[in-house]
Amino acid sequence: TYVVTDACVKCKYTDCVDVCPVDCFHEGPNFLVIDPDECIDCTLCVAECPVEAIYAEDDVPENMLDYIPLNAELAKEWPTIVEKKDPLADHEEWSGVTGKIHLVER
Ligand code: SF4
Ligand code: F3S
Repeated sequence: TYVVTDACVKCKYTDCVDVCPVDCFHEGPNFLVIDPDECIDCTLCVAECPVEAIYAEDDVPENMLDYIPLNAELAKEWPTIVEKKDPLADHEEWSGVTGKIHLVER
């Protein structure tokens, strides 16, 4: 499965959702997650993300491993998103910031 990680938090560009053939992205207030039970590993979303937030599960950097269970958990709680929308208003301010997992809003 593929996993959305730190760079997405407080940015949420949503380019990724347009290409997913199985609509497995789920949307929260300031972050998106992939449902690991739905993702078919097509890899299409990886290149779409302008901040390179999406990794194959096996390639998630060590400092972002907590995002793997977080994607699985929040995918069960958040609604599906299938169409691209504008990024969050202050996305530019946050795009270079790392270690944002504690800022994910439920
Ligand atoms: Fe969707 Fe493919 Fe990305 Fe999985 S790898 S989330 S199936 S676009
Ligand atoms: Fe997030 Fe990148 Fe998609 S910032 S919403 S994973 S395009």
